[in-house]
Amino acid sequence: MSRKPFIAGNWKMNMTAESGTQLIKELIPLVKDANCDVCLCVPAILIPAMTKASAGTNIHIGAENVHWANSGAYTGEISADMLKEYGVKYVIIGHSERRQYFGETDETVNKRTLTALNAGLTPIVCVGELLEERESGKTNEVLDRQLKDGLNGIDDVTKIVIAYEPVWAIGTGRTATDEQAQKTIAYIRKKIGELFCPKCAEKIVIQYGGSMNAGNCKGLMAQPDIDGGLIGGASLKLDFAKIVNFDK
Ligand code: PGA
Repeated sequence: MSRKPFIAGNWKMNMTAESGTQLIKELIPLVKDANCDVCLCVPAILIPAMTKASAGTNIHIGAENVHWANSGAYTGEISADMLKEYGVKYVIIGHSERRQYFGETDETVNKRTLTALNAGLTPIVCVGELLEERESGKTNEVLDRQLKDGLNGIDDVTKIVIAYEPVWAIGTGRTATDEQAQKTIAYIRKKIGELFCPKCAEKIVIQYGGSMNAGNCKGLMAQPDIDGGLIGGASLKLDFAKIVNFDK
């Protein structure tokens, strides 16, 4: 089964309306012939300006988080309807920085994911182990828990994207080797087969994330189970276009 590659950027808490608009302007001609789906997940306040900057192009704009409630007394939070009003299609859920600094748990990841799916958004659900978990041989155990609890109750798991991001590789310049990333993502795919169905496992798009850049993207993307990338640092510059064009 062929899965369409999907390269997404994660700007995190970087860029302004002005610098973001400029970057998108420069990226548009560079990524217009991409053979993959392309998305930039940006801070919520930049969504209107970035949607405008990318209108009519193949660059989708995504969000970096979404709340599970439809509306209500949740100061500082953003609802799925608010995102959809601006044409947002994708939303990152459960990024390790949210888990580490903002109390995100598998349970809240699950609630956000179900709400996003209900609203017709495509969640990019992040999973991945800490360095000490990898070193103590607990990677699969951690992934089992994140997948089972985080994806609990999903009707059609092929409507989500999974981003495997080993926490020790994020923003550290220490990328997982092609083999490490392939092996772990193959494990995640197998687990999706067990938790959902073998056909779902074949169909679901799974990205790698963690210091992916213009230099290492080809090797990672050549792995049979790696369908794309979630790109942090390298999505803040024109290098992002080189990753999008990994197959050229
Ligand atoms: P990085 O971030 O590419 O800067 O390592 C990836 C991510 O956190 O999604």
